[in-house]
Amino acid sequence: SNEEKQPLILAGKTVTITAGPTREALDPVRFISNHSSGKMGYALANAALQLGAKVNLISGPVSIQPPSNAKLFHVESALEMHQSALKLATESDIFIGCAAVADYRSADLQTQKIKKQGDEMTLTLVKNPDIIADVAGLSHSRPFTVGFAAETQNVADYARKKLINKKLDMICANDVSNQAIGFNSDHNALTVFWSNGQQDLGLHSKEALSLSIMNLISSRLKG
Ligand code: CTP
Ligand code: CA
Repeated sequence: SNEEKQPLILAGKTVTITAGPTREALDPVRFISNHSSGKMGYALANAALQLGAKVNLISGPVSIQPPSNAKLFHVESALEMHQSALKLATESDIFIGCAAVADYRSADLQTQKIKKQGDEMTLTLVKNPDIIADVAGLSHSRPFTVGFAAETQNVADYARKKLINKKLDMICANDVSNQAIGFNSDHNALTVFWSNGQQDLGLHSKEALSLSIMNLISSRLKG
């Protein structure tokens, strides 16, 4: 169980984890975001702590309690998360991008509240930086880099494409077309992919899956 004593296989290692959604402001009172609860990222942080690691947790706005022994970095936007992640990545052995980063932000952040006008309005968005791709692309002090992929179809294909395109060491994929699991659930079903292998971790609590993922990372790190 979650309380069980684990062998300290990550002692001496620093793990940095991004978690939760990002929030992209439109004006002082409005934003674009998503339904990420942060539960998976926070569970990974707990698992890494249980295995003896030092943990940096970069978190978007969530409503759950952080693990007390993690070093917490609160961020809101993808740009803030990007800056925090790149700063911490070079001093990390392992980087896990579990956050649901908003792909786009407003092209034109308003400093005053946007006033209602005509019957239609158009928002122009610009692409956010790809945080995990930038971490995996570091030329010095690059950590072992693990991503997540939430897909509604062709899960294995899309996950392997992300593994290759973002130059990740590992990617954890889940099928979010299954309404019972994922985003706000306490459970998840994951398949983990790496360059020359894969492992189906099945449907479990996010706590149990997190221990499996951290164990898998630890063994790939050595191998
Ligand atoms: N990610 C990131 N920075 C972004 C977008 C995504 O670091 N700007 C990370 C996520 O934290 C996750 C991985 O990339 O670890 C995959 O995220 P996902 O949204 O599935 O992939 P995208 O590359 O954004 O592609 P798409 O949303 O079109 O499927
Ligand atoms: Ca995305």
